[in-house]
Amino acid sequence: MYTKKVISHFKNPHNQGKIKDADAIGEAGNPVCGDVMKIYLKMAKNKKGEEIIKDVKFETLGCAAAIAVSSALTDLVKGKTIKEALKITKDQIVKDLGGLPAPKIHCSMLGVEALHEAIKNYKKEHSNKT
Ligand code: FES
Repeated sequence: MYTKKVISHFKNPHNQGKIKDADAIGEAGNPVCGDVMKIYLKMAKNKKGEEIIKDVKFETLGCAAAIAVSSALTDLVKGKTIKEALKITKDQIVKDLGGLPAPKIHCSMLGVEALHEAIKNYKKEHSNKT
């Protein structure tokens, strides 16, 4: 049912946990099943002076697919600029995982939504300070 890549991310999730001094936190819930995901971002500037996601971690209370999606998403966004990170779609993550069973497609929404929420919170906070 699940691809090998999904199972491997689920069994050994990348970037799972918290960032204590995170610059932004985003949370998303799945209305279909009630599962939730929290994403933590640590920002930095690259050589060009652009803001990048230096570190990212997640906590997901959810099914195997949701955990695999969270893990794959955090791999994809690490080191990206905010603009690049916002371009990542749930379809891209599903493709990266080699596909998800049809009833599990809704589980792929959590990651992207939590990431967008975290970026939104970061921007809000950042514009308050400047
Ligand atoms: Fe809830 Fe998959 S069943 S995220």
